Amino acid sequence: MRQFNLGKSKEGVLNLVPEHTIKKVSLGNQSIGLLRIGETFFAFQSQCPHRGASLIQGSLNAAGELICPLHQYRFELKSGQVKAGSCPDLEVFPCELSESGLQITLPSK
Ligand code: FES
Repeated sequence: MRQFNLGKSKEGVLNLVPEHTIKKVSLGNQSIGLLRIGETFFAFQSQCPHRGASLIQGSLNAAGELICPLHQYRFELKSGQVKAGSCPDLEVFPCELSESGLQITLPSK
């Protein structure tokens, strides 16, 4: 496991990541997508598991699903489960917001 910290305070991270906007974040040698709904953060692989389109250009629907811009496959943000389409699930990474910032845990490579 590799752990990364974003920001130095809860307030700082909330200001850094606007709500409902997908941000590309580089952690070590990996780029991931980061999205915030309220004070809940979701971190996920930046490329679609279907054909590799950039999910940074993706969008969010009212059900809290991430929609790929290329073929509109949908993924549940929390679990990464594919909801519409036929491809592997999206890889999602645990995030934890605390008074000292946001901690994101990536698997070991
Ligand atoms: S590349 Fe994302 S749905 Fe096809």
